[in-house]
Amino acid sequence: MIKFLLAPDLLLEALQNPETYTAQFIQKCSSDAGIQAWILAHTVQICASQGFSPKTIGQWINGLSQIPNNARLNELALASRAGFETGLQAAAAKIFKIPFVVTAQSVENQDGVSFINCQQAMEMDVRVGSERVDFLNLNLALHPMFNQMDGWFMEIIQDTAFAGGNHVAEFEKEFADYCRIPHAVGVSNGTDALLFALLAMGIQPGDEIITVPNTFIATTEAISHAGAVPVFVDVCPDSYNMNPDLIEAKITEKTRALLPVHLYGQMADMDAIMAIARKFDLMVLEDACQAHGADRNGRRAGTFGLAGAFSMYPGKNLGAFGEAGCVITADPKIAATVKCLREHGQSKKYYHQLEGFNGRMDNLQAAALRAKLPLLDNWNENRRRIARQYQRELSGIPGLTLPVVKDYAGHVFHLFVILVPDPQELSAYLQQREIYTGFHYPVPLHLQQAYQTRGERQASYPVSEQCATQLISLPMFPELTEKQIGRVCAEIRAYYQGPSAG
Ligand SMILES: Cc1ncc(COP(=O)(O)O)c(C=O)c1O
Repeated sequence: MIKFLLAPDLLLEALQNPETYTAQFIQKCSSDAGIQAWILAHTVQICASQGFSPKTIGQWINGLSQIPNNARLNELALASRAGFETGLQAAAAKIFKIPFVVTAQSVENQDGVSFINCQQAMEMDVRVGSERVDFLNLNLALHPMFNQMDGWFMEIIQDTAFAGGNHVAEFEKEFADYCRIPHAVGVSNGTDALLFALLAMGIQPGDEIITVPNTFIATTEAISHAGAVPVFVDVCPDSYNMNPDLIEAKITEKTRALLPVHLYGQMADMDAIMAIARKFDLMVLEDACQAHGADRNGRRAGTFGLAGAFSMYPGKNLGAFGEAGCVITADPKIAATVKCLREHGQSKKYYHQLEGFNGRMDNLQAAALRAKLPLLDNWNENRRRIARQYQRELSGIPGLTLPVVKDYAGHVFHLFVILVPDPQELSAYLQQREIYTGFHYPVPLHLQQAYQTRGERQASYPVSEQCATQLISLPMFPELTEKQIGRVCAEIRAYYQGPSAG
């Protein structure tokens, strides 16, 4: 992925003569998925002040994202020794992490920002910036949503509509529609989404809730904070999700609910889990915090049980610009109770039906999520494309196990995990080559210090223990290029099969 900032002279030239090389370059910038092109909002103002019609300008800036004019940029530009206009471009490029300003003028490089012409930009291929492969790069996702979000953020700030405001309710409607379920309730984070859903489902102190040890601790924190007791079953050796065959043995007279986690972006086997829930009259809450948009035969994650809980932590498939979460449900009573719980147990200001929490979603986060939601399916499709390339290029390496995509699953690859004998060593080897990886999760919950008083023995959950010691998460975010994935795969192959294999 290459990022360019286009200087005003390029736009002006294209507007004057749409047949030029510069005009072709701008068209390429708007249509090539490997290029993210930015302009300063001030460039549009310059074009408008030259008398070009809004319609013509609109045609040329479609597909470009606009960096707002602001006092900080002006301050930096005024202080620049290169002059205001060049200083402005350099400052904006630096703040927005854009390595190249493209201009027809001959300008010296400033502050680590290269000034290049269209010819040089056109000849640059996606080799640029592809050496280092981040585990996650959130910056690249800003481009397609920036204009929308910037406008909304400015309005929210001017209206000082931080805690109230319309975006939360609008996001709730839009996310409920996306999940094809009647209710979505925005809350402060995914952990609270789980907690509020459990409380709204009527979980009582001492109730047992069956979940898995191969998950993030938030799953069991919510159970414990609701006063209930987490009871573990191991995960399947192929999907690393709740193993339905092991559930019945853990059901006691205290069991009230099942809490499967759709880990790494793939749904647990909800048909089998729901059948057990029906047989034993248990409630089901889905931890869908890693599964935005995942589905089973067209039915979305989070819509099988009584409720589904989502995290919108920034790194998730649908992530806010801070903390956020959401509960979805078809049950109006659960939706109403979660709304009440997130607002200190009040349904009318200062009239508290119950003790609740400060657990609202804030308006800025809801606006960011609204700007991103229309892009989620496309992003998930990119994640699947990346996963297919990993599957192709890593197949046949002895000792390495690739993720199994269940035939029912619309996997959304929040993470791409592979099972290897020596994840720590592989990670260190890749890091030396500027490829960054993660571990999800290095200690299964039953062996965490926080749960040591439970007295669970090592080897009680062998698959979860194997996940903890042998899984490694490879770089995964929608903007990864084919070349970057190719490099990750070649390095892994070289690590296991020697340099000639890479
Ligand atoms: C599986 C799982 N459950 C729950 C959570 C908690 O979400 P949050 O961090 O938004 O509280 C997360 C987020 O990391 C998660 O991955």
